[in-house]
Amino acid sequence: MEISYPNEVQLESCLQQLRHKIQSHQAQVGIVGLGYVGLPLAVEFARAGFAVTGVDIDSNKVKAINSGSSYIQDVPTSVLGPLVEAGKLRATADFSAIAEMDTVNIAVPTPLRKTKDPDMSYVVNACEEIAKYIHPGMLAILESTTYPGTTDELMLPMFERSGLVVGEDFFLCFSPERVDPGNPNFQTANIPKVVGGITPACTEVGALFYSQAIEKVVPVGSTRVAEMVKLLENTFRMINIGLVNEIALMCDRIGINVWEVIDAAATKPFGFMPFYPGPGLGGHCIPIDPFYLSWKTKQAGIEARFIELAGYINGQMPHFVVDKVQNALNDHTKPLKGSRVHVLGVAYKRDIDDVRESPALDIIHLLGKRGAEVTYSDPFVPRLRADGVLSHDMEAIDPYHGSLEADCVVIVTDHKNIDYRKIVEQARLIVDTRNALKGIASQKIVRL
Ligand SMILES: NC(=O)c1ccc[n+]([C@@H]2O[C@H](COP(=O)([O-])OP(=O)(O)OC[C@H]3O[C@@H](n4cnc5c(N)ncnc54)[C@H](O)[C@@H]3O)[C@@H](O)[C@H]2O)c1
Repeated sequence: MEISYPNEVQLESCLQQLRHKIQSHQAQVGIVGLGYVGLPLAVEFARAGFAVTGVDIDSNKVKAINSGSSYIQDVPTSVLGPLVEAGKLRATADFSAIAEMDTVNIAVPTPLRKTKDPDMSYVVNACEEIAKYIHPGMLAILESTTYPGTTDELMLPMFERSGLVVGEDFFLCFSPERVDPGNPNFQTANIPKVVGGITPACTEVGALFYSQAIEKVVPVGSTRVAEMVKLLENTFRMINIGLVNEIALMCDRIGINVWEVIDAAATKPFGFMPFYPGPGLGGHCIPIDPFYLSWKTKQAGIEARFIELAGYINGQMPHFVVDKVQNALNDHTKPLKGSRVHVLGVAYKRDIDDVRESPALDIIHLLGKRGAEVTYSDPFVPRLRADGVLSHDMEAIDPYHGSLEADCVVIVTDHKNIDYRKIVEQARLIVDTRNALKGIASQKIVRL
């Protein structure tokens, strides 16, 4: 693509012009990747009065948005629809729309390969497309969680091939996404936004951009700091969950109720923060992001030992849960093989519909492998598709009927809209991995 190079006076004004467009809300906002992160962000900027264009390779998502209907639980159709109707938000699969955009946020997946190495293919593909349409005065911000160095080592050279100069002609930042799906108190607009640019001008204009739609913006000194912030946050969670899972295994062995221990410890007003054990890690972030960090630091000769250890302990939890089910059945003189086990809840956490990396999938797989007949229920997940873990598609059944029919119920996700007292009444035996039955006393209950 041919790029017109601004003269000295125009160079001076790239930043000025962009600032003005942002402050007057006349900037054309582009969001690449319209998933759990990208769509809420697009909606927030559209609500702030910007004209927003989402770009996604998934034509179903593009169609859904343009018809005003949402596929993301945290974005009600009642909010999305009017924005589309008012012409504030539209979607396309055509990257040439980037040529008209003043700002572009990138929120595409960053999964792990089977080898636990970062899979940067989505970021690279998206950036290759954006690079074709980069133009003077454009601000690009990567939001996908990634290893420190991605923005300056991987993205910047792709954009600089245009001949444009970062910090003068165009502006490049990293800003980690902290969205917590299903959290009623904190959503995109009121979660503080960290942003770091390649140059001070990049940081300044990136912070100015977010401050138009997000309550609090936290500028940091570089893209690498911003990338590392996200990895610190998620590594902190992953390791603390690993620690508390190990404490749970210890308590189980020596006959102590770990939940009671945590609740009592959490009364300490300083120096302690409760984390809770469970059936294993799930979601697109906590089980994955720390391995982006360990991959990067390995290249610098540092083994991320806490991450590896927590990863191992967390990865053992589905096996521990299945052992627990087997032992509970054995105590009732029933073998696991041939028994009917009902998995209650398959989403990776409470009150959401996301099953990515959910430990429930491993638990269903392991139970099946040991010969159990497995059913599941989940008010948010009507069906499970066969994937790398599950060998066949499954349909959800009614939770109360499932509990009545089963030899053992295993609570894997503690959704709020389940009547747990009724489950206890119906079931013969229950393994509770989430303390969903807190306060209910029954001989039928086996707690993690
Ligand atoms: N889901 C979360 O709770 C969460 C929270 C914080 C950070 N993140 C991070 O944000 C990033 C995005 O996660 P997500 O949960 O929104 O993923 P997602 O899978 O829900 O959405 C990603 C979207 O990108 C699209 N896409 C893929 N390749 C593309 C390309 N080349 N061009 C345009 N679109 C493309 C997909 O079709 C999809 O719609 C990841 O790096 C993730 O780690 C996610």
